[in-house]
Amino acid sequence: MTAQTRQPAYVDDVVRAFMVATVFWGVVGFTMGLLIASQLAFPQLNFGLEWTSFGRLRPVHTSGVIFAFGGSGLIGSSLFIVQRTCKARLFGGWQLGWFIFWGYQLFIVLAATGYVMGITQGKEYAEPEWYVDLWLTIVWVAYLVCFVGTLMRRQEPHIYVANWFLLGFILTIAMLHLVNNAALPVSFFDWKSYGAYAGVQDAMIEWWYGHNAVGFFLTAGFLGMMYYFIPKAADRPIYSYRLSIVHFWSLIFLYIWAGPHHLHYTALPDWTQTLGMVFSVMLWMPSWGGMINGLMTLSGAWHKLATNPGLRFSVTSLAFYGMSTFEGPVMSVKPVNGLSHYTDWTIGHVHSGAMGWVGFITFGALYYIFPVLWGKTKVYSEKLVSWHFWIATLGIVFYVCAMWASGIMQGLMWRAYDANGFLQYSFIETVEAMHPFYLIRMLGGVLYLTGALIMAFNLWKTATGSQDSVLQAVPVPQPAQ
Ligand code: HEM
Ligand code: HEM
Repeated sequence: MTAQTRQPAYVDDVVRAFMVATVFWGVVGFTMGLLIASQLAFPQLNFGLEWTSFGRLRPVHTSGVIFAFGGSGLIGSSLFIVQRTCKARLFGGWQLGWFIFWGYQLFIVLAATGYVMGITQGKEYAEPEWYVDLWLTIVWVAYLVCFVGTLMRRQEPHIYVANWFLLGFILTIAMLHLVNNAALPVSFFDWKSYGAYAGVQDAMIEWWYGHNAVGFFLTAGFLGMMYYFIPKAADRPIYSYRLSIVHFWSLIFLYIWAGPHHLHYTALPDWTQTLGMVFSVMLWMPSWGGMINGLMTLSGAWHKLATNPGLRFSVTSLAFYGMSTFEGPVMSVKPVNGLSHYTDWTIGHVHSGAMGWVGFITFGALYYIFPVLWGKTKVYSEKLVSWHFWIATLGIVFYVCAMWASGIMQGLMWRAYDANGFLQYSFIETVEAMHPFYLIRMLGGVLYLTGALIMAFNLWKTATGSQDSVLQAVPVPQPAQ
C-alpha cells in the first residue's frame, strides 16, 4: 500500500463538521419549538419584547429545524453518500467542502439574526431578505458543483438511487429558491425589498415553493438518506431497485403540481385548486411505494431491530412517513380542507411528518454515521439510544394527538351554529378550549428535546470515547484533478 492510499481518501472532515452542526442545530431548533409552544400556552413568555415575540421566534424555529438541522444533516450525509457510492473523493476537495460548510452556517446565522431583528420578506419558509438569498445562491451553486463533480468522477458504472433523490433535491431547491425570491431591493439600511409578483400570482408562486420545499427538501432529500442508511444499517440490499426508480420519477413528477392545495377556497382559479387536489391524492401512491420499499428491505432482517436501536429510528420514521403521506392527500380534498385549514390539524400533520419522518430518519443516520466517521465499532451506549427512541416517540404521540384533537375541535367550533343561525362560539372561547391541548403539546416538546439532549451526549461520548477503532479508511484510487 502506498503512502497515498493509506491516507483517508474521502473528504470526511467536512462531513464530520456537518454532523456535529446537525446535532447542535437540532437542539437549538427543538428548544425554539418548545419556547414558542410555551408562548402559545402562556403569552407572558413573549416577555413584552419585540425580539422575543412569537412572530419573530416562530421562523427561527421553522428555519432552525428545516434549514439548519435538516439542511446540515442533508448536505453532510449527501457528501458522505456520494463519495462512498461513487468510490470517489469529493470534487473540489476540502477547499470546496469547507466553503460549503462555513458558507451554509453563515447563511443560517444571517437568516436567524434577521428574523429576530424583524428583517423578513414575510413569505413562509422563504423569510430571509435579498442579501441572505444572494449568499445562499452562491453556496448552493458551490454545493451543486461539488455534488455533480463527484458524480462525474465516479468509479462505479451506474449512479446509485440515493444520489438521484439527492440530486433531485439540490436542483429543485435551486429552482424554487431563485423563482420565489425574485425581488427588487429598495434599501440598504433596513434591507427591504419588494417581490416581483403581486396578488394571487404571488400566493401561487409562494405555495408552489412552500409545498415543494416539503416535497424536495423534507421528502426527496431524506428519501436519499433512507435509500442509503437503511440498507447499510440492515446489511441488506434495497428490496426492489426497480421500485425505487419508479418511486423517484413518479414522486418528482407529481409533487411539483400539488402546491395549490395550500390555497383552497381562495382567489386562485377553481380549476387550479382542483388540479392541486388531484395531484395530491395521486401522490399517495409513490409515497407508499417508497415506504414499502424501505420497510421490505428489512425482510429477513427484522431481528436486527432488537440489537440495533439506531435502525429502530429509521424504520419508525418510515411508519411516520406513511402516516403523514396518507393524511396529506386526505387533507388536500377540498371539503376536508374546509375543516382542517387554519386549524391545529395542519400543525399536527406537519409535526407527524417533521418530528416523526424528518427527525427520526436523521437520528437513525446520525447513529450510523458517528461511529463510522470517528472510527468506532459502535455508539457509546445503545441503552441511551433506546431511551432516546422511547422518549422521543412518546413526545411525538403527545404532540400530534393533542394537535389533532385541538384542530378538529377548533374547526368544528368555528362552524357551529345555534338554533337561530348565529355562531355558537365566540373566537375567544375556541382559544380557551385549546389551552389544555397546548399544555400536552408542551409536554411532547419537553420529551422530544430531552431525547435529543440524550443523543447529543451519547454521540459526543462516541466521538471522544476510547472504544476499539474499526478499519474504515478504505483506500480509493485518486482520480486525476
Ligand atoms: C421539540 C419539538 C418541537 C416543538 C415543541 C415544536 C413546536 C412548534 C410550534 C409551537 C409551532 C407553531 C405552531 C403554530 O403556529 O400554531 C411549530 C411550527 C412548525 N414546526 Fe415545529 N416543533 C418541534 C419540532 C419540529 C421539527 C423537528 C420540525 C421539522 C423538522 C418542525 C417543523 C415545523 C414547521 C414546518 C412549522 C410550521 C407549520 C405551519 O406553518 O403549518 N418542528 N412548531
Ligand atoms: C403525499 C404527501 C403529502 C400531501 C399530499 C400533503 C398535503 C398537505 C396539505 C393538504 C396540507 C394543508 C394545507 C393547508 O390547509 O394549508 C399540508 C400542510 C403541510 N404539510 Fe403536508 N402533505 C404531504 C406530506 C407531508 C410530509 C411528509 C411533510 C413533512 C415532512 C409535510 C409537511 C407539511 C407542512 C410543513 C405543511 C404546512 C404548510 C404551511 O401551511 O405552513 N407534508 N400538507
